[in-house]
Amino acid sequence: MLGLRGPAFTFRHDPFLGDADEALVHWPDALVVMRDGVITGFGDHAAERPRHPDRLEVHHYPEGLIGPGFVDAHVHYPQMEMTGAFGETLLDWLQRYTYPTEARFADAAHAARIAALFLRALLRAGTTTAAVYGTVHEHSADALFAGAEGLGMRLIAGKVLMDRHAPDALLDGEDHGIPATRRLIARWHGRGRLLYAITPRFAPACTDEALQAAGRLWCDHPGTYVQTHLCETEAEIAWVRELFPAAASYLDVYVRAGLVGPRAVMGHAVHVTEGDIAGLRESGCGVAHCPSSNLFLGSGLFRLHDLAEAGVRVALGSDVGAGTSLSTLRTLGDGYKMARLRGARLHPAQAFWLATRGGAAALRLEDRIGSLEPGMEADLVVLDPRATPELALRTEGGAELADRLFALMTLGDERAVRATYVGGRLVHDREKAPA
Ligand code: GUN
Ligand code: ZN
Repeated sequence: MLGLRGPAFTFRHDPFLGDADEALVHWPDALVVMRDGVITGFGDHAAERPRHPDRLEVHHYPEGLIGPGFVDAHVHYPQMEMTGAFGETLLDWLQRYTYPTEARFADAAHAARIAALFLRALLRAGTTTAAVYGTVHEHSADALFAGAEGLGMRLIAGKVLMDRHAPDALLDGEDHGIPATRRLIARWHGRGRLLYAITPRFAPACTDEALQAAGRLWCDHPGTYVQTHLCETEAEIAWVRELFPAAASYLDVYVRAGLVGPRAVMGHAVHVTEGDIAGLRESGCGVAHCPSSNLFLGSGLFRLHDLAEAGVRVALGSDVGAGTSLSTLRTLGDGYKMARLRGARLHPAQAFWLATRGGAAALRLEDRIGSLEPGMEADLVVLDPRATPELALRTEGGAELADRLFALMTLGDERAVRATYVGGRLVHDREKAPA
């Protein structure tokens, strides 16, 4: 049995649907008790400690801030090495930088190397669950799942499906990548904490036959996920209109293929209509808000509050490598700035909700991860509100919880992640980690 002691934060309610100022709960001295990978006790230390009299090893973080591990609901691990590619908008960026980089994953050893680097980087960022795109290569998903299994992470991932408008080396054949996906589902879905996502890249890279086949596959495998991109840029939407003239909208392309519903996660959804918002809410699918990526590629300004207040399940995605950092704290800082450009304010309670409990709900995992509650899987992050001189200056004199969280998302990055726990095990310790 292991206990984590220190200041902690939890939520009273969804800060997009209820009062954001009232949503956060501050625990000045909490104890989280973990056993067999699960949280078995949580509460004020003075009350909780006597309930666990024997053999409790306690890691004490008196200067820390304990929260649920972060959820990154949209990220491309093969793009880690091309993060920060200069000067293009989405469609040119894909052709010029992304596809050549992903082609290198034909080499299984390269995939294994980058998968290991990527998973370590997630843990350094305090991210304990992610929904991850591989490349078109079957072994790209194997490499990632094998690495995540070794770390005990709850991970959603899949091999990308694409059969047009990219270099030949990256295209699925006439089988549309379906047999490879079937094999991956058989090997990995539901194994330990791993979950499979059927991953059609986006409508322009998939023929209608491929999308329909992906939809049938999803129907055949209840419990698996779908992840794809939706309405990221205006040029992309215009292209989809040309490619799928019979569809009523971009979202409708996926609806007609049977790819929209609970456990489907749509990346971006920047340029959406009121009809799209209603469709996203009613279908119960998740939307991954990727502010770093949208700002970097100049894709547009996501209508976060419109979607979240309408009841769409919104999560946060780094979208590396169009997003420029795997740090959830930095991505939230970008989310705040994007909200300002829309004239809105991303309250720190809303921000950390997106990155934890809200993200878990978008992924339909809210009964397992995203909260500090008995029965939840023991994935936690310990933040450090004094990690850098700038943060220390900003939070000195005991700032309020919301202000400390806001400082962390504005000034923080991996340096502000003191420790990360996965399945009740310490998997990243900033003080011990190699540089
Ligand atoms: N749309 C299709 N593929 C991609 C990708 O790899 N990144 C982003 N940001 N958008 C995409
Ligand atoms: Zn993406």
